[in-house]
Amino acid sequence: MRVLVIGSGAREHAIVHALRRSPEVSDVFCSPGNPGIAMAADCLPLPVDDLPGLAEAASDLQIDLTIVGPELPLSLGIVDEFNNGGLRVFGPTRAAAELESSKVFAKEFCQRHQIPTAKAEVVREESALRRVVEDFGFPVVLKADGLAAGKGVLILHSREDLEHAVDIFFVKRNFGDASDQILVEEFLEGTELSFMAVCDGKRAFPLASAHDYKRLNDQDEGPNTGGMGSHSPVFGLPRGIGRDIMEKVIQPTIDGMAAEGREYRGILYAGLMLSGEGFKVLEFNCRFGDPETQSVLLRLDGSLFSLLKSAADGQLDPSGISWRREIVACVVAASAGYPRSPKKGFEIRGTADALDLPGVTIYQAGTRMVDGVLKTSGGRVLSVCGRGPSLEAALENAYAGIAKVRFEGMHFRRDIGADSLALLQAEQSNDP
Ligand code: AMP
Ligand code: GLY
Repeated sequence: MRVLVIGSGAREHAIVHALRRSPEVSDVFCSPGNPGIAMAADCLPLPVDDLPGLAEAASDLQIDLTIVGPELPLSLGIVDEFNNGGLRVFGPTRAAAELESSKVFAKEFCQRHQIPTAKAEVVREESALRRVVEDFGFPVVLKADGLAAGKGVLILHSREDLEHAVDIFFVKRNFGDASDQILVEEFLEGTELSFMAVCDGKRAFPLASAHDYKRLNDQDEGPNTGGMGSHSPVFGLPRGIGRDIMEKVIQPTIDGMAAEGREYRGILYAGLMLSGEGFKVLEFNCRFGDPETQSVLLRLDGSLFSLLKSAADGQLDPSGISWRREIVACVVAASAGYPRSPKKGFEIRGTADALDLPGVTIYQAGTRMVDGVLKTSGGRVLSVCGRGPSLEAALENAYAGIAKVRFEGMHFRRDIGADSLALLQAEQSNDP
């Protein structure tokens, strides 16, 4: 079987790696890919938003299944384009992908279908924003409606923060049309959980749980990013919560989308906040999470290809899929200036030494080969993953790997998994 993966990040590198372990797969293509992906797949030069070009390539190359990594082509309708051409593709249609591409749609959808979600109101003007923020009180969360690469969410603690938000949403319009509508949402405290499920329009199969570290700096400080690290599984979850999330969030979402004529096939990613009162949806994504996927897929046993193909065909078949007991942790090496304006073009050294270490896997993201030299070319540069029999061992391996890697201005969090380790240690010390 021949597969095409669309995208160029560490998530796509992890997907390509898992497809290489799928026995039915003979050829893997990726567009546009990156130098790391090029070691495992044939890379095509087409950008992710060239929908007709990608459909033509899939047809010419006789691709059996195309897997879409990032949200942009999904929100532009790549799945509709492929469906129209009779090409098999894994992902939601443009209408179904609105669960991610419009936070207002997602919020109103949850409200219509009694899916637990944070309380929120939609505003379109400055005066309404000020009034609703006043009603909610501080802290409060503002979210630009449209896609903003994880950066359109602001948590306001004070009037000063509100003035800053008004400035970037309404005066400078940093998010363009994405902030024509803004959600004002209640601030929730608790533990965050990324929950992904493979959906075929009617049914869903949950992937292993993952914890994502979204803030730039240690101790969850600094701005929100696409994600600075992850580990799988998540520890300390209440018993049966996976089943509960499937029953109260994932299945009602699939049913509601079908009832509204937006059949949902693809990955449904729910970002949840867990608190004493249970869990609430903070966001939906319509694709694999990045960097959660890097940790999750390293734990997958069985054929990712046949799982995703069965979902794309509307015949979900998760038999043969299981999760290794091994723990995986992922630490992202980012460029100086990320997420605002990453500095690029620096030589990356040490990846081969890191890969020589036991239990270390590296997925490349913002990298480029220039005259045979690997250089940085984006904000998130590498996902360094460590595997081990315990979280401690997985983290030790990931950090031993990243310690070998160097590029000018390299930044990474030193506390990925530290909160989970503390939780595990506290549980052990409570054991009689
Ligand atoms: P989102 O893109 O909606 O997941 O938001 C990005 C991040 O902002 C989340 O991962 C949370 O850390 C934080 N966040 C979003 N919504 C809320 C909320 N209602 N309460 C507290 N934190 C939030
Ligand atoms: N790591 C969060 C996301 O993929 O949106």
